[in-house]
Amino acid sequence: METIELSGTLGLIATVILTLNILLGMMLSTAYKNKSWWQRFPEKIRSININDLHNYTAYVALLFVLTHIFLIPFDPSSKFKLIDIIWPLYAPHQPNIVLLGTFSLLALIIVVITTQKFIKRKMSFRIWKNIHLISYATCILFIVHGLLMDPELKDRPTDWIDAEKLLSEICGIVLITAFAIRYKYHLSISKNK
Ligand code: HEM
Repeated sequence: METIELSGTLGLIATVILTLNILLGMMLSTAYKNKSWWQRFPEKIRSININDLHNYTAYVALLFVLTHIFLIPFDPSSKFKLIDIIWPLYAPHQPNIVLLGTFSLLALIIVVITTQKFIKRKMSFRIWKNIHLISYATCILFIVHGLLMDPELKDRPTDWIDAEKLLSEICGIVLITAFAIRYKYHLSISKNK
């Protein structure tokens, strides 16, 4: 497997883990334990600490994204230098789309840092929550980034029926559906206040 292919695979794994992470976050913010669909799960699944799983998936995804990007300059055919992954405006391929990935990574780092207990304690719940809500925008960015990047860095248009792109498409559809459900929940809560 070429280094750039490995990088792409790690980007895809990060996409799947981040999708799972957002779904877990949405469960936590919608009092999932009281829901009938959750009660129907076997005891083994219900005993999982969703809060911990939500945190761990964020760390693991961050590790995958960092490896995804640091591998790129190691493939000479990519023509990427280390500076291009830190400041991608002059990247040799699809700089604007790479930039979307950079914004996602920055947002992920900010959310992870502000969730560390000693930092979280220093801010009000509202401020922490508002920072955390960046994640909704972040996932749109990394899905678009993953869909539009050419995995071989030949600046080709997206092959929408390619297996890897289909995986990003599925994650995108899952996230949009989850956003709609989350928004409906928000409306029902506001109406009952
Ligand atoms: C949350 C952050 C990110 C996620 C989830 C992500 C995910 C992805 C995915 C799914 C692909 C397409 C793989 C394929 O179709 O086979 C991709 C490609 C790519 N990404 Fe990212 N990415 C992220 C951040 C970044 C950042 C920060 C950079 C660089 C600064 C970057 C640079 C690239 C490049 C150059 C490619 C094309 C080459 C390759 O496939 O490795 N990505 N990324």
